[in-house]
Amino acid sequence: MNAPAELLARYGSPLYVYDAAVLDAALAAARTAFAGCSARYALKANANAVLLRRIAATGFGADAVSPLEVRAALAAGFAREAVSYTGHASSREELAAVSHAGVEITLDSIEGLRRLADVAPGSACGLRINTGIGAGHHRNVVTGGAASKFGVPLEDLAAAMTEAQRCGLRIIGLHQHVGSGILTAQPLIDAAEMLLRAATPWAQRLKWLDFGGGFGIPYRSEEAALDLGAVVSGIRERAAIWCKGNETSLELRFQPGRILVGACGTLLVRVIEVKSSLSALWVATDSGSHHLLRPMLYGAYHRIENLSHPDAAPTLVNVTGVLCESGDVLAHERSLPLPREGDILAIRDVGAYGFAMASTYNLRPRPAEVLLHAVGAELIRPRETDSSVLG
Ligand code: LLP
Repeated sequence: MNAPAELLARYGSPLYVYDAAVLDAALAAARTAFAGCSARYALKANANAVLLRRIAATGFGADAVSPLEVRAALAAGFAREAVSYTGHASSREELAAVSHAGVEITLDSIEGLRRLADVAPGSACGLRINTGIGAGHHRNVVTGGAASKFGVPLEDLAAAMTEAQRCGLRIIGLHQHVGSGILTAQPLIDAAEMLLRAATPWAQRLKWLDFGGGFGIPYRSEEAALDLGAVVSGIRERAAIWCKGNETSLELRFQPGRILVGACGTLLVRVIEVKSSLSALWVATDSGSHHLLRPMLYGAYHRIENLSHPDAAPTLVNVTGVLCESGDVLAHERSLPLPREGDILAIRDVGAYGFAMASTYNLRPRPAEVLLHAVGAELIRPRETDSSVLG
């Protein structure tokens, strides 16, 4: 019933497919790893409403970066007090809307503190800091360090605290997020130590520390998974010592995105043609970078399987899409069982930042999304219609 050809016949090609069992397993593993902490799912990775409800029902909180993400989180049933908004360049209007929704705000700059004080005087809020540590799978996703636009630099933290007090805000939490797609524990632990050190002068007034997200998943078969349990327990141990030393206690927060939803997603595409041109064999599919931007934007690798002819001769090909743009390549020089016209390819691990970053570039509608259960498929977002693309 869940055979790829049937799914494509029923819902159209290309198609985003999420495996409920894989999602549930990732959620359960993360619940265990984050036990005793507040884990807030970063909606930006995938904000499909049905997936959000499943994540909320598993006991996660949510982290939003826009008013609509806040709305989506609350509509999905995340408890209001477990929803945070970690904004960047938040306008007065945006801060007023989020504050009105009753969701706690974490600001990213001293200037932002002043805007919040204008629209929601006397608020308690968080502050994002840049401790100088950055990490990630590509320079575009490194969010800490000298080259990053995010957060208040450590040397300005004292000034930010003073300014908050002057304008009547209470800073009750400090946050950092160093980057995304991190597969080793060390940068995350190092960054946590920096955050703890930075928080020390304000230990008595802080109610929480938020260590952000960034937990990577292995995209290549030979990559080892991050030991999430070891990362979280390493941070918890250090935080416990810090709390004892400062005679306080506080909530430890995390904002996992990719590690919850990345592995459950597959993009099913159909091969339109296979052509030999100059030095390469080009396998053109009916999808492309408008549906999965990661390869084009970051050179990201996603496993691809030829579901129609898994036993065909392994052949080096470039897998591309329909866009009129030469960068529209989903895989370079990939060895695949030689695809033929009409074959179905499965592009794996696209549950995070896949559909979420899809567009209608070239006026091509975004695909449908379905959730696969053991007993069948559930349409969780219909394919975008031509008229909604045309506007
Ligand atoms: N918290 C904050 C403040 C963030 O900016 C992010 C991601 C997260 C949490 C969740 O990070 P995660 O656990 O998913 O790594 N589009 C890129 C990833 C950009 C991540 C942006 N911020 C990609 O496809 O790799």
